Amino acid sequence: MKKEFQNIYDKIAGFMKDAIIDSSHSYRIFSLASIDNKSPKVRTVVLRDFSIKNNYFEFHSDIRSPKLVELKNNNNFSALFYSSETKVQIRFNGKTKILYDCSQTEKRWEQITPSSKRCYMGPYSPSESLSEYHPNIPESVQFKNPSDEESLDGYKNFVIVRCYFDKIDYLKLKYSGHFRCSFMLNESGIDAEWIAP
Ligand SMILES: Cc1cc2nc3c(=O)[nH]c(=O)nc-3n(C[C@H](O)[C@H](O)[C@H](O)COP(=O)(O)O)c2cc1C
Repeated sequence: MKKEFQNIYDKIAGFMKDAIIDSSHSYRIFSLASIDNKSPKVRTVVLRDFSIKNNYFEFHSDIRSPKLVELKNNNNFSALFYSSETKVQIRFNGKTKILYDCSQTEKRWEQITPSSKRCYMGPYSPSESLSEYHPNIPESVQFKNPSDEESLDGYKNFVIVRCYFDKIDYLKLKYSGHFRCSFMLNESGIDAEWIAP
């Protein structure tokens, strides 16, 4: 890859790694699109891990949520990151892999705070219709953290969605002219090219 593209690629990796460490980083929260039959569906999720070596990033979710059904039927995804500070938009495309009840989910579950574990303990499936308001947290832990034993109910719903990317579209806005390029990842390496912004 030419040096000008390598510099941008390294910058992207740097932004993503920073967002893993810094919860206030612009790229910590991103939009993930999936396909429901033929319709696009998009939602906000939290960036949890990133590997430039293995070309993936991850977010956590509830196995009962509609996006998991969509991704099981069609694992193509598109992910959108934007920073208003750097004015850089990054879009990733690729295929997801769902990690469920395995060594990776066990290890990650141990690192999740008890209060966050409550998010996976809801009596209702995420996005399910309700006849009246419900916070979708069990009453027993609405105002306190669950014990390790109680939170096991949440682990049954916990998944890591690993997003393996094979295309990156980078756009940096600049008064004197925007910069846009794409990276196509394939078995022989990475093909990069400039694109009209
Ligand atoms: C700031 C923010 C962060 C969120 N993070 C996640 C997340 O990491 N994982 C997740 O499954 N849902 C997350 N959600 C909720 C989703 O956006 C969505 O409402 C929910 O997962 C149901 O999506 P679905 O019906 O497309 O499956 C987040 C919402 C907000 C507003």
